[in-house]
Amino acid sequence: MSSKIPLELTLAILKPHVVKNPIVLQKIYEMITENGLKVVRSQRKIITLPEADLFYQEHRQKFFYNRLVTFMSSGPSDILILAGENAVLKWREIMGPTKVFQAQYSAPDTIRGKFGLSDTRNATHGSDSTESAEREMQILFKDFDSKKWRETDRSLRDLGQKMKLDAESFKNNIDESSVDREQNVK
Ligand code: CDP
Ligand code: MG
Repeated sequence: MSSKIPLELTLAILKPHVVKNPIVLQKIYEMITENGLKVVRSQRKIITLPEADLFYQEHRQKFFYNRLVTFMSSGPSDILILAGENAVLKWREIMGPTKVFQAQYSAPDTIRGKFGLSDTRNATHGSDSTESAEREMQILFKDFDSKKWRETDRSLRDLGQKMKLDAESFKNNIDESSVDREQNVK
C-alpha cells in the first residue's frame, strides 16, 4: 500500500448546475473514487460573490468574468479537497478541457465532455497547480491546515482511508473517527 510518491491535494468544485442534478452528481462522485482520489474534506454551500471574486481574481479582466462569478454564486456547490498521487493533474485529466465544445469533441469521456453545458457551466473546477490548490483551500476551507494534514499523510496512506458514502448527498466522506484515531498514532 505504501508508495514513495507523496500525496498531493487539490481543490475541486462541483458547480451549481451539477449539484442540482443528483444523477450527474453521483456519476461525478463515482469518477472521483474510481480514479483513486480520496475526498479529504467536503462541504456544500453557496459560494458568496466576494469569495467568487477572490477565488477567480486572475480572470477579473476577462470578458466572461461577470457571468462566471454570478453563476458560481447562484446556488450551492459541492466543494472538495481531494488527495492522491499527482492529484492536481489527475483531477484535471478527469475533468477534461475547459471549453465544453472542445471537451465533447476531443475528450467525450471526461466530466466536462459528458456533463458540461457551456463554457461557464462546465461542471467542475480543479486547481491548476499545487500553489493554486493551497490558495484556493485557504479561501474555501479556512480552518483546513494542509501542513498538519500532510504530517498525517503517511499514517493515512498506510492504514487506508475509511470512506463512507452519504446516501443523501452522494458524498464519499472520510470516516472522521478513523482519521482522529490515525492522527493520534505517533
Ligand atoms: O476551470 P479551468 O482552470 O479549466 O479554466 P480557466 O481558464 O481557469 O477558467 C475558469 C472558469 O471560467 C472556467 O472553468 C469556466 O467556468 C469559466 N470560463 C468561461 O465562462 N468562459 C470562457 N470562455 C472560459 C472560461
Ligand atoms: Mg483555472
